[in-house]
Amino acid sequence: MKTLFEPFRIKMVESIRKTTLPERIQILEQAHYNPFLIRSEDVMIDFLTDSGTGSMSDHQWAAIMLGDESYAGSKSYYHFRDTVKEITGFKHIVPTHQGRAAERILFECLVKPGDVVPNNTHFDTTRANIEYAEAQALDIPIPEGLLPSVSIPFKGNLDLDQLRELLARTDIHIPLAMITITNNAEGGQPVSMENIRETSRIMRDKGIPFFLDACRFAENAYFIQRDEPGYQDKTIDEICREMFSYADGCTMSAKKDGMANIGGFLAVNNDELATNARNLLILTEGFPSYGGLAGRDLEALAVGLREAMQPDYLEYRIRTVAYMGERLVKRGIDIVQPTGGHAIFIDAGRFYPHLDKSVYPGQVLVCELYRIGGIRSVEIGSVMFGKQNADGSEDEYLGPELVRLAFPRRTYTQSHFDYAIEVIAEAFQNRKMSKGLRIVKQPKFLRHFTAHFAPV
Ligand code: F0G
Repeated sequence: MKTLFEPFRIKMVESIRKTTLPERIQILEQAHYNPFLIRSEDVMIDFLTDSGTGSMSDHQWAAIMLGDESYAGSKSYYHFRDTVKEITGFKHIVPTHQGRAAERILFECLVKPGDVVPNNTHFDTTRANIEYAEAQALDIPIPEGLLPSVSIPFKGNLDLDQLRELLARTDIHIPLAMITITNNAEGGQPVSMENIRETSRIMRDKGIPFFLDACRFAENAYFIQRDEPGYQDKTIDEICREMFSYADGCTMSAKKDGMANIGGFLAVNNDELATNARNLLILTEGFPSYGGLAGRDLEALAVGLREAMQPDYLEYRIRTVAYMGERLVKRGIDIVQPTGGHAIFIDAGRFYPHLDKSVYPGQVLVCELYRIGGIRSVEIGSVMFGKQNADGSEDEYLGPELVRLAFPRRTYTQSHFDYAIEVIAEAFQNRKMSKGLRIVKQPKFLRHFTAHFAPV
């Protein structure tokens, strides 16, 4: 059979409130044209993020009832810890409430002002946490990674030549290097095993730690199994184990491939680093056996991490993204090619060739998708990565202007995706009528979350 159906059936449903066009126009204005400021009950299809928005399985809900809520030495912690150890092979597992807490702790331990941290592409919270530590977060993706229309496998790779050049410099200090799997900021593109292995070899030669930002490790493993020579006969478990074996640790937002609504961890092999991390954990997150999570969350994660690695689930997940991508491309809409693991990224710069970067074409499209169809998405371009200087001028962001539609795990069915395709197609038909936006209010860090916009 050619039809690939969702490998689950639905036991509990959540209703969607339908809104009208006049309502949405008003809601958008009240939210200052920033969908982060819209109430979720006013959103019909929420593609804002795949983080913490997935549906848990019957096994996960059952596991929740087994949560041991003891402050210290909880049984649920050991269940969680052993599962993460089995999957990753890392020695010390430090639970955190989500990914950015793991990042903050790691960087507080390793990064000093003036340091440089290379990564294929930093996600926004990773970048912000490094900048908060007064260090530089440096993106060194392969050149193709910056070209939305170029379709090659493993477009998320890190540029090894640039890494070698950086390491040869004597005027900078590099405390660690990272690779983000999959490369979220550049289209959810996977990183090859070869690239992870080589990065590891280069870093080990220099004696500098190498970490994975492992939020979507299972999706990355699926691409390796499907597309990288030599991995077709390996299991997802084996591939994950090999990926992690090349790193000295990882940060993890378990709200993605942990299949849970909250959670994360920092994993490290180094004993001293683990001790320092746990000391910081106690300061703001909690005791090392729960790290800001409830025992029931740890149980849900122990089950969810395994479910994210199931081959049928991964095939359906990656195929859903490709399905939507193929239909948009057929309508002449430019997207990041090839489609990646968790989201579709529309090239808003090409969608609106008449809109300059300075009027935020990505944010315009985000607003249009909400206005036309109640769909929530997120801009990944000048709003997210541009920066306002003290004198009010703006540091121009040179990357592509993208709009991400990220797919919650196991939450929407095919007709939701078909509806979204129709909405995007309508925005495309009317594109010439769309006008730009300007920022009227913005915070110093992570401005896309709270900035206010107004039509130009
Ligand atoms: N690293 C990557 C690659 C991410 O995608 C995220 C979160 C984080 C780190 C931080 O994890 O949210 O648990 O603190 N990404 C979400 C997104 C928010 O929408 O892509 P967190």
